[in-house]
This record gives sequence, structure tokens and C-alpha cells, in this order.
Amino acid sequence: MERTYIMIKPDGVQRGLIGEIIMRFERKGYKLIAMKLTAPGKAHMETHYEDLSGKKFFPGLIEYMTSGPVCAMVWEGANVVKEGRKMLGATMPSESACGTIRGDFCIEVGRNVCHGSDSVDSAEKEIALWFPEGVCAWDSCEGKWVYE
Ligand code: PPS
Repeated sequence: MERTYIMIKPDGVQRGLIGEIIMRFERKGYKLIAMKLTAPGKAHMETHYEDLSGKKFFPGLIEYMTSGPVCAMVWEGANVVKEGRKMLGATMPSESACGTIRGDFCIEVGRNVCHGSDSVDSAEKEIALWFPEGVCAWDSCEGKWVYE
């Protein structure tokens, strides 16, 4: 089964969207296998976004992402990396379809509520960075009602 790293950003936490976002992933049929509310600081966030360190918006992104706690999660399921990104919607809220998380809850890219891994490789790296202690694998009794 594939795994992805989903992070509710400080604005999503402050706006009380944790439950809404978890509900969407649960209802889809994905399985939550790790979760924590955490405020890890600048160095950790710079490592998470290290590929973007040359971008003009990088300092603002780090300031935003360290302005409050984030809700870090790992979700498991078939094609969850790609499907999870679909559920989040386009990075630019103005381009996110209604019905997606960003399409429904955000206006600006610098406050776009959530992050999702963009590939299976990134997911593996991000899960190792945010959950060095490992995840909680468990058997869901719903499995046979979600998959054929
Ligand atoms: S880029 O420029 O194409 O590499 O960026 P993109 O892949 O679209 O987005 C990568 C992450 O950077 C965030 N981002 C921004 N944050 C603040 N301000 C601006 N202008 C901005 N542009 C992009 C974007 O939300 C992505 O973060 P994650 O956490 O992956 O969603």
C-alpha cells in the first residue's frame, strides 16, 4: 500500500480545519497511520522545503510555516499520493477546483492550508523526516469494504 505525508499548515490549524481535512481522507477510505500536532522550528522546516530554498518566497514560506503548530499525518491507501494531491487541489487556490480542500477553504497561495507529498519518493523522505519514530501500522476492519 502507498503512503503519503499530509500536513495541515498553521492557518489550517488556527482556522479549525483539522477535523474537516481528516474527515475527507477518512471518508474517501484512506487509513491514518501517524499523526501529531507539532511546532518543530525553523531548521526542520527549512529541511522539509529545502528544494525551494532558492525561491523568492522561501523566507516568507518558512516564516508562515513556523508561525504556529502544524498537524503532521501519514495516510495509507491505493494511489494515495496522487489522489491525496487531487483532494488538496491545485497549489494556487485561484486554480483549485471547488470541492477540493484548497478550492473550498483558501484564497492565497501563502495561506493554502495544507501540504501533500508530490511523489512516492518525496513521501518516503517526508515521512522519514517527520516521523523518525515510525508509523503505527494497523489492520482496518473496513479494508474489504473499501477495496475489491
Ligand atoms: S514552484 O515555484 O513551482 O517550485 O512551487 P510549487 O511547486 O507551486 O509550490 C511549492 C511549495 O511552495 C509553496 N508556494 C508558496 N508559498 C508562499 N508564497 C508563495 N508565493 C508560494 N508559491 C508556492 C506552495 O504552497 C508549495 O508548498 P506545499 O507545502 O508543497 O503546498
